[in-house]
Amino acid sequence: MTKLQAKNIVKHFDHNGNSVVALDGITLNVEEGDFVCIVGPSGCGKSTFLNIIAGLEQPDSGEILLNGKPISETGPDRTMVFQEGALFPWLKVIDNVEFGLKMAGIPKDERREISRRYLDMMQLTKFADSYTYQLSTGMKQRVAIARALAMDPEILLMDEPFAALDSQTRDLLLVELQLIWERTKKTIIFVTHNISESVILGNKVEIFKNRPSKIKKEIIIDYRRPRLTEDANLQKYYHEILQELKSEVMARSKDDLK
Ligand SMILES: Nc1ncnc2c1ncn2[C@@H]1O[C@H](COP(=O)(O)OP(=O)(O)O)[C@@H](O)[C@H]1O
Ligand SMILES: [Mg+2]
Repeated sequence: MTKLQAKNIVKHFDHNGNSVVALDGITLNVEEGDFVCIVGPSGCGKSTFLNIIAGLEQPDSGEILLNGKPISETGPDRTMVFQEGALFPWLKVIDNVEFGLKMAGIPKDERREISRRYLDMMQLTKFADSYTYQLSTGMKQRVAIARALAMDPEILLMDEPFAALDSQTRDLLLVELQLIWERTKKTIIFVTHNISESVILGNKVEIFKNRPSKIKKEIIIDYRRPRLTEDANLQKYYHEILQELKSEVMARSKDDLK
């Protein structure tokens, strides 16, 4: 079943009176249970596209359909995990995870149970009563993921959530996220500029063209899980994406020299 449809999304921004086209007609179908990775050079419009799906920004034209219905604003059916956890430092870990549930009016006992389940899934049970400043960056991102999952969204949106992590922590989380995806069967859209991440995580990888952004190519990766960073069999996908992105970066440097 098609979970999300982006239909010809166009978005421009004004920069000192100049119009910059960030998205130039993005069309994408995401099926239920898909793990879609969007990869592209920085500044190509990945975050803008994700923000439009989240309802944080409005497109100039085009529309996003969730379960066949147009979306126009933010909603608990789409939760976002950002690069930096965006956690509340004055709340304990468990209260951070419960925050959205509390806002949604879920009774205390029920939300405690839900948040404990996700803390357990993210191996954070021991830290339920800690404050977020007492945690490492990797643990903070796990709290942010637990908080997003606790809302039981239709789609989990992730914008470079592992970009600030050291490589060992990132490798661990790449495996954990695959296990969670298999367990929860969530539909995930994950944005990254990191090719390895997209190959390890995605069953579909959407390669974004440089500004003005369109989808240049979709690559299907049908390969066993959990996939590991060091798996040599993933190299061919890595190189295929790298070639596509290299030509994008080359095209941009030529433009910049004009
Ligand atoms: N709020 C904004 N105001 C003006 N320009 C913006 C804004 N957000 C993004 N842009 C521009 O849109 C383009 C795409 O940005 P972004 O979506 O953040 O790219 P990415 O996430 O791929 O790095 C960039 O040229 C950026 O300068
Ligand atoms: Mg971005």
